[in-house]
Amino acid sequence: MHDPAGSVTGLLGPSGSGKTTLMRAVVGVQVVKSGSISVLGEPAGSAPLRRKVGYLTQAPSVYADLTVRENARYFAALYGYDAATAERAIADVGLAKAARQLVATLSGGQRSRASLACAIMGEPELLVLDEPTVGQDPVLRDELWKQFHDLAGRGATILVSSHVMDEAGRCERLLLIREGALIADDTPAAVRERAGTDDLDEAFLRLIKAQEVAPA
Ligand SMILES: Nc1ncnc2c1ncn2[C@@H]1O[C@H](COP(=O)(O)OP(=O)(O)O)[C@@H](O)[C@H]1O
Ligand SMILES: [Mg+2]
Repeated sequence: MHDPAGSVTGLLGPSGSGKTTLMRAVVGVQVVKSGSISVLGEPAGSAPLRRKVGYLTQAPSVYADLTVRENARYFAALYGYDAATAERAIADVGLAKAARQLVATLSGGQRSRASLACAIMGEPELLVLDEPTVGQDPVLRDELWKQFHDLAGRGATILVSSHVMDEAGRCERLLLIREGALIADDTPAAVRERAGTDDLDEAFLRLIKAQEVAPA
């Protein structure tokens, strides 16, 4: 896969299709059985990538008994960033007003954004976001997508997974996976055209059916 810098690529597929596994491989925490993965020209997970790749895991990964600011500063310190960088990350995810709040007292959406703040610390070149909008209300989902495009606009390459097809239209490039195999890699417009429908949910189903009839 090769994504131009400043783009948002969606990794779409049903639950269990291998989205998290693929993302873990890109980040370098997954044991890969065959093949090799290079990220920004370096082997996945290698030391030079440490500050260049941000990863948001599927489950929020912030400490409940620390405040938003404490979490951000702790994470910043791990990567050698200063307090100002931590503050910027908090502001970028819209949590400036909640910075002094304990994570335990945040709403689910705010907690996800606190995790996101840690993932975008120092503005990494590649951001790998695993289902960042799951369980968020529609308004917040919309805000998060705007943030992803904002970050991409500032030069980050973003790989974001979702099992919700209505989010697919917000990406510049779509990767559709099913049972660990890529069944489409195209723009949303091209996926719609190939499947002969404007509805991306329906398009995905049709591409699966076409693949079952004539396996690649
Ligand atoms: N390319 C692959 N080859 C073999 N097994 C895979 C592959 N991708 C995923 N799996 C297995 O499929 C299961 C579900 O994968 P996961 O990545 O959690 O899916 P998702 O995040 O899409 O819900 C896991 O048990 C994983 O080990
Ligand atoms: Mg997953």
